[in-house]
This record gives sequence, C-alpha cells and structure tokens, in this order.
Amino acid sequence: MSEENTKQITHCTFCGSSKEAVKKLVVSESVSICSDCVALCQTLIDDDNDVEIDFTPEHEPEVIKDYLDLHIIGQHDAKKVLSVAIANHYKRINKPPKDIEIQKGNVLIVGPTGSGKTLLAKSAAKYLKVPFIVADATSLTEAGYVGDDVESMISMLINAANGDIKLAERGIIFIDEIDKIARKGESTSITRDVSGEGVQQALLKLVEGTTCRIPKEAGRKHPGTDMNEINTKDILFIAGGAFVGLKDVIANRMNGTSIGFNATVVDVKLEGDLSNVSPDDLTKYGMIPEFIGRFTTTVSIQELTKEQLVQILTDVKNNYISQYQYLLSLDNIALTFTSEALDQIAENTLLLKTGARGLHSEIERVLMPHMFHTKRYKENNVTNINIDRELVLRPKSLYE
Ligand SMILES: Nc1ncnc2c1ncn2[C@@H]1O[C@H](COP(=O)(O)OP(=O)(O)OP(=O)(O)O)[C@@H](O)[C@H]1O
Ligand SMILES: [Mg+2]
Repeated sequence: MSEENTKQITHCTFCGSSKEAVKKLVVSESVSICSDCVALCQTLIDDDNDVEIDFTPEHEPEVIKDYLDLHIIGQHDAKKVLSVAIANHYKRINKPPKDIEIQKGNVLIVGPTGSGKTLLAKSAAKYLKVPFIVADATSLTEAGYVGDDVESMISMLINAANGDIKLAERGIIFIDEIDKIARKGESTSITRDVSGEGVQQALLKLVEGTTCRIPKEAGRKHPGTDMNEINTKDILFIAGGAFVGLKDVIANRMNGTSIGFNATVVDVKLEGDLSNVSPDDLTKYGMIPEFIGRFTTTVSIQELTKEQLVQILTDVKNNYISQYQYLLSLDNIALTFTSEALDQIAENTLLLKTGARGLHSEIERVLMPHMFHTKRYKENNVTNINIDRELVLRPKSLYE
C-alpha cells in the first residue's frame, strides 16, 4: 500500500463517514471501510445463513389433504387430523412467536396393518419436500445395548438430507411398529425392560427436542471423531403401530367393569372403536404416560373395505393395475379387468387380513401365468388380455 494513496482516503467508501467519526477505518490502496460498515456486513452475512429453507408448498390443511387424497384411499379423518398437525408444525417452525412457546406436537397413528399408516407419513413428507425416514421401533435399543440406539434415526435422517443439517432439522421421522415397544404387563417391573419401556424412555428426549451429537462418519463414537450437532426440536416425529388388542382395552373402558358393589349391568356390549382411543387406553396397553404425552395428536385409521381395496387397485396415482398394464404394454399387450374380477380380487385380499398389502400378491398370482406366456401371446398376435372373475378364481393363461 503506498503511503501517498492511504493518505488521500479519509472517508469510508461505503457510508462516507469521515475517519474521525468512526471507531476504525480500514484503508486499502483505493477503497476503505469503516468499523460500522464491517459490523453491518457481518449481520448481513449472518442473516443470510439464517435464511429460511424454502418450504413453499401451501401449508393450509385443506390443500395438504387434497394432495393426500391422490395417494391414499379412505382414512378421511386421519388425513384431516394429519394435515392440521403438519400445518401447525410448520407454522410453528416458520413463524415462531416472540413471547410464548408453542409446544411441539408429534403424531401417533393407530390402526390395522396394511391400511396406510406408513403411506400417510411418506406422502406427507413427499408433499413437504423434506427428508423422511422410516425407522423400525423393534430394532431400537437403549444406548449401551446391542442394536441401534435411538440416535441412529437422526444419522439416517442426516443421510436422507444428503448431509444438510439444517434440512434434516426439519425432516420427518416415522417410527414404525411403535406398539412393539409397549411394556409387557400393566405393572411396572423392577428389572429394566431393555426392549420395551427402556426404548420408550430413551426416545423421550429425542422426540421432545434435544441437541444430539452425531458422528460425521457412520460407526462408533470414539474420542476425536468429528461430530455433527443437530437439534431435534423441529423434527416432526410420527409414530405408527397396529396395536393389536387395543380395541379390547377400549371396549373394556367403554363398557365399564361389572365387578363391584355398585356395578351396573351392561346388556349391550359396545365394540371397541379405535377412533375413541384415549391416552389412558394407550397407557393400559403398555405405553408409558411420558411417551404418550409427547404425541399430542392421535389419529386412528380403519380397516379397508372391499370397495376401498378396488379403488386402491384402480384409482390411486401409480396404482398396481397401471403398473402391470405398463409392463405388458412393453409386449404390445393391453390388459383389462372386468368389474367382477376386481371385486373378486378385493374379496380374496380381505381374507388375507394384511390390508392393501395383499392386493399386490393377489394381482401377481392372477397375472403370473399370462406374464409367463408373453412369447406365445405375441406369436399368436394376442393383443389384449381381459381378466374376468373365472381367471381370478382359477388363474391360467390362454394356453392352459
Ligand atoms: N388407504 C390406502 N390407500 C392407498 N393405498 C394403500 C392404502 N393403505 C395401504 N395401501 C397400500 O398398501 C401398502 C402398505 O401400506 P402401509 O405401508 O401404509 O401399511 P401400514 O398401515 O403402515 O401397515 P403396517 O402396520 O404393517 O406397517 C402401501 O404401499 C400402499 O400401496
Ligand atoms: Mg407401516
């Protein structure tokens, strides 16, 4: 820097303040900046780091539900409740209030297998364009025991966000099979229950909001490993479980116990309905109250009806039928089903008691002989396969 030049610069190039008016003036050959402008620049840089990740999809519950309707048949109550829970969750993160603290509300989905619990959570995450992972509660253990400790879910989420911690901090973690970590038996045992209650205890802090230190490299935490710090307060936890037997717990509560002096005799036994589930029922089932307390929204889903199963086959985006129609179209064969055939597939599926999951294996069973013989179909210029009820009851190709 030549002395001649520095002598000439006596004012901040950015704000024009004179050297005397500011605390410090940093001068280079042709420009200068005062300490006030440096401070201003620093806040601009800091603000930029804080820039909200753009979660622009509409956050109105009705808009979210419209999207869920494209992918999930039925389960309207669940879709409504989940849409509101998500909308509130992201309102809370994007516009936190200054003077009050809004408690985080995680979501618990209860309902029979194969009826859309995981699909609900997955579709919600897709809509919000946030990282999403499914963790299996049965593989989780308390820290210190063999197995995945609960923080492994956070590592998975960071991976799903391609290492972007800020993005991961707003992701969704779906904990599947949550009912499998219910305490066995209603009385608290003196010995620690590693697989059940212990895991619920270990999850408490995480789902409520805490800072975790996660090794950057997967593997064991040992001194000197580079760590990522991640706060879980804005991660939405959705837990799902089939809770087999919960209906009986609800029914018992609703019917009252008929033991005791003043017991009323109940003539009509009410059937337990999952949509009436209360926190108390879940505690009776074996979830610890502290855990249930952190899942403020409980959503129940219902067993799918035959009509809904047919709709799943034909109406949802990317449905099974269009998948197989595409596969056969590659051999120039069109695939159609009569409505009686669809009904029969749905009926067979109901018997499997695996919800909509059974549809896939049913369709596969029906179409297998045809898919096997595509070569012959092509040689004989067969360009259309129409599946009727008979072909569902006794699947066979046109050549058997
Ligand atoms: N309501 C639904 N609408 C559309 N498809 C559905 C619905 N329910 C289930 N399915 C289909 O069935 C498959 C299994 O559903 P999902 O994984 O959501 O079941 P789940 O309720 O989580 O069962 P589990 O308790 O066994 O985990 C999904 O991939 C989807 O294709
Ligand atoms: Mg599931």
